[in-house]
Amino acid sequence: MNHLLSIESLSSSDITGLLHEAAMLKNSRGDTAFKPLSGQTWALLFSKSSTRTRVSFEVGIHELGGNALFLAASEIQLGRGEPLCDTARVLGRMVHGAVIRTFAQSDVEDFARLGGIPTINALTDGEHPCQILADLLTMQESGLDISTAKVAFIGDGDCNVARSWIWAAARCGFELRIASPAKFLPPGDLVARAGGRIHLVEDPREAAAGADVLYTDVWVSMGKEDEAAYRAAQFQGYQINASLLAAARPEALVMHCLPAYRGKEIDSETLEAHADTIFRQAENRLHLQKAVLARLAGHR
Ligand code: CP
Ligand code: NVA
Repeated sequence: MNHLLSIESLSSSDITGLLHEAAMLKNSRGDTAFKPLSGQTWALLFSKSSTRTRVSFEVGIHELGGNALFLAASEIQLGRGEPLCDTARVLGRMVHGAVIRTFAQSDVEDFARLGGIPTINALTDGEHPCQILADLLTMQESGLDISTAKVAFIGDGDCNVARSWIWAAARCGFELRIASPAKFLPPGDLVARAGGRIHLVEDPREAAAGADVLYTDVWVSMGKEDEAAYRAAQFQGYQINASLLAAARPEALVMHCLPAYRGKEIDSETLEAHADTIFRQAENRLHLQKAVLARLAGHR
């Protein structure tokens, strides 16, 4: 594994190994002797807003002995039109790794190829692999088997997070039901290419029935702000709330990648009742990404 560009590009054993290493790093967080990034500088090149991803990578790189260099795309020449292919070749000669949050999936793939340094997808329009890997860790910690669980994704089934869930289901074996309005279901050819046990439905209750996990994400992903009013209307009825949760298993987890918009994709009462799981998902970004960084730095 030289990069983390998508879940699609990971093998099942990559995923199992990362989850195992993340759990070990979480248990030994106070042990400061493990410094696989010692002497290294990693660039965080972000074209979109972030709280969790930015902070977890900055803290994780620091804890592993490295230096994190945050570069807002709007504040470097990239924001004035310098091509990504040139930015990649410059950074690749100076830093030891790159963590990139941007729009096109092809941009992180081009960066990885041209920069010649380990590159991590910190969210594109196509995938959000770090989030879903951390979510799998959270599921395991909660006692779920990721080869047999039933996960229901409710909301924008064609967003980056849903697409990473599709590939995770294909690689890990769990059953994934995606409930979205027809226009927001993921493309059938993508689902067919992924394989696995994936069901696309329009009725959120059908997806939630007997599920071990109800998962949601924002209705308006970054870059889709122009469609906010249209999406708010389309997604009425796709909120995770007590009524929908009643269809799931009694002990079902409610998960959200955050940021959350209370009263839209989830109601406030349900979010607060499941805050332990939801904020553990956020914390697990740190532990999981440390496992990724350590592996890419060549020390695992
Ligand atoms: N979940 C997530 O990636 O959050 P941020 O956008 O705050 O990084
Ligand atoms: N789908 C969301 C995820 C945010 C972490 C977005 O792209 O904005």
